[in-house]
Amino acid sequence: KRVAILISGGGSNMIALAESMVGDHPARPVLVVSNEPTAAGLSRAARMGIPAAAVDHRPFGKDRAAFEQELLKPLLAAEPDIVCLAGFMRVLTPAFVSRFEGRMLNIHPSLLPKYTGLHTHARAIAAGDAEAGCTVHEVTAALDEGPILGQARLPILPGDTAETLAARVLPLEHRLYPAVLRRVASGDRGRLDL
Ligand code: GRF
Repeated sequence: KRVAILISGGGSNMIALAESMVGDHPARPVLVVSNEPTAAGLSRAARMGIPAAAVDHRPFGKDRAAFEQELLKPLLAAEPDIVCLAGFMRVLTPAFVSRFEGRMLNIHPSLLPKYTGLHTHARAIAAGDAEAGCTVHEVTAALDEGPILGQARLPILPGDTAETLAARVLPLEHRLYPAVLRRVASGDRGRLDL
């Protein structure tokens, strides 16, 4: 299976995914694309020998469709079987998502369905939740609401800030996402709870 990974920043989840696709793993990374040309993840991908491209969203302003037409060029050229959003911070239109229906995954730093959108850790702390975590889900037209494929959770500690919590959840993401990708790449859509 050919896997394309979309990033916007450091790409730590992309690194974890790419590093997992070795040996008898049924998938290989074939492309990394960032909407942010300065994303550190682009050089990290290139250093791993993965073709990397930047498609800057800024020149397109509010015209999401025009940006996505540009984004599709390297993406379709790579002929991915699976597209992984990994720290990708642009909302995709339903038209774009429908082209990859059922084979586009995302990792979101909350225990969905709680806290779709942004500032997830701060909201969990403010709500007095006992736990936080991350979710890998299929991407559908509704933001952060597709079928859940896996979750990993941990306790929120007294005194936790959004930053200290994020620092503990990120390594969980790096375990959950590769584990879910391996299952999806081998045809298993069962839910994985770490
Ligand atoms: C992190 O906040 C992570 O929780 C979310 O995207 C952000 C950046 O991740 N998934 P990455 O290091 O760019 O993979």
